[in-house]
Amino acid sequence: MQIPYLFPTFLMLHLTALVLMAGTTLVDYLSYASLWKSLGQGERPTVLINMMDKLPRVIGIGAAMLILTGIGMMILTHGVFGEQIWFRIKFGLVILVILNGLLIGRQQGVKLRRILDNSEPDLTGEVHKVKSRLGRFHLTQLLLFLLIIFLSVFKFN
Ligand code: HEM
Repeated sequence: MQIPYLFPTFLMLHLTALVLMAGTTLVDYLSYASLWKSLGQGERPTVLINMMDKLPRVIGIGAAMLILTGIGMMILTHGVFGEQIWFRIKFGLVILVILNGLLIGRQQGVKLRRILDNSEPDLTGEVHKVKSRLGRFHLTQLLLFLLIIFLSVFKFN
């Protein structure tokens, strides 16, 4: 049985999830830029840090929604995209987004909060290393999003 408008509904939710995940990643990047500025001045911006602690959950909800709606569209199209080159590359890049998020973004975020809980706010030593790793993490994530969107829209084969 075919349910009318199910595919466009999944696609709409897929794009909403993309906005949620990629947009929040950008907000995360901008928030870190403010955090580095405050730490450089020897300040600990508690309100900003509390707000930043909520972002990974929003990114996670976006990621889960992207994957579920993506799988939904695959089922509705009987996996036809799975045979196309653009989709295989896209899938590989999606795995990279997830791995980069879990192995670099999350770990470095947790590490930074542990350092800040145990020392005075500054931008030297270990914090400096975390700062450059997180900078590379955000740049990689945003570039991967751009590449995935490019592949999804042009669908070259
Ligand atoms: C970071 C993750 C992802 C991003 C940024 C993303 C982005 C996009 C975009 C922008 C489109 C719209 C293309 C268009 O309408 O022209 C799209 C469509 C689609 N995506 Fe994703 N996607 C992601 C993850 C996934 C995953 C994990 C799957 C499958 C498991 C998937 C399956 C699909 C399918 C089947 C379409 C419909 C293609 C069509 O009929 O136009 N996506 N995606």
